[in-house]
Amino acid sequence: MKAKIAVLPGDGIGPEVIAEGLRCLRALAERHGHELTLTELPFGGAAIDLTGNPLPRDTLEACLRADAVLLGAIGGPKWSAPEAKVRPEQGLLGLRSALGVYANLRPVRVHPALLGASTLKPEVLEGVDLVFVRELTGGIYFGEKRREPQSATDVCTYTVAEIERIVRAAARLAHKRRRKLVSIDKANVLETSRLWREVATRIVRTEFPQITLEHMLVDSAAMHLIRRPSDFDVLVTENMFGDILTDEASMLAGSLGLLPSASLGEGTRGLYEPIHGSAPDIAGRGIANPCGTLLSVALLLRHSLGLEGEAAALERAVSEAIAQGARTPDIAAKGASALSTREVGDAVLAKL
Ligand code: IPM
Ligand code: MG
Repeated sequence: MKAKIAVLPGDGIGPEVIAEGLRCLRALAERHGHELTLTELPFGGAAIDLTGNPLPRDTLEACLRADAVLLGAIGGPKWSAPEAKVRPEQGLLGLRSALGVYANLRPVRVHPALLGASTLKPEVLEGVDLVFVRELTGGIYFGEKRREPQSATDVCTYTVAEIERIVRAAARLAHKRRRKLVSIDKANVLETSRLWREVATRIVRTEFPQITLEHMLVDSAAMHLIRRPSDFDVLVTENMFGDILTDEASMLAGSLGLLPSASLGEGTRGLYEPIHGSAPDIAGRGIANPCGTLLSVALLLRHSLGLEGEAAALERAVSEAIAQGARTPDIAAKGASALSTREVGDAVLAKL
């Protein structure tokens, strides 16, 4: 097959993890005879330095023309002064919105070899296999923002249509899995959450009667996620709750560096990025965990290119490499020496 992929390495450890993602992608394409056009483009802080804009027009246009976008990470202290008018994050939100990728899938699985890497007890983590479906293009992230001398305002709005489409995306996913859907909100306080709960109930009851829907308040969900994580199957929630809870959930897997994400809209075009940030504290040292990016590449192969076999092969290769001790410092076993980003990439390539 032929496909165009826009590659946005971004800032901090972004370029380091993306380099490993591209090596695996090229190897798979070569092996299976796919013709991939990979175009690297400036984005985030790097693009601010170059053009003054975190999402330059050429970058956006290339992303809109592509079949999929692969993104590293953005941001860093250089661009985050409180008074900064232009921020890398604006580029990311602008890109998600322009691509219309409202459904952000963040799967969390616990690798048996990493049961000891988490700060949580192994017996709590056994059998964890859940997916967050985070609403990505609405809510408080995109509402009006105002700053006055003695106050500041962020508006949170959700429309019925926005809630319907994200609940449908989550329910369709749950239908293919264990048919258990938890919808997370703060309906005891927020009006948007009361609407969310109403719509979620109606959509599941009328369109997905085979699915069990449970509503959970976000504070309670934060607690149950670490108390009994293996009970969860699919969780759907609004933008900011999803942002917070998925960082929490990454600790089930053992490291923020392990988690991939896929952001999808109506067609097959998607945006793929590890859930971690640019980690300026370790950038340039070659020790970042590339697995979140490698698994994001697998999601790209599956969801945007329809290459299930290649996706599964890459996921298997990552899993086998980890099982055999290919681990960066964030997940290294006690007493064992850690590998570099490149060495973990090598180990996965060898398995491929
Ligand atoms: C994420 C990140 C972003 C978000 C930031 C960098 C704007 O934390 O993808 O989870 O809040 O969505
Ligand atoms: Mg986040």
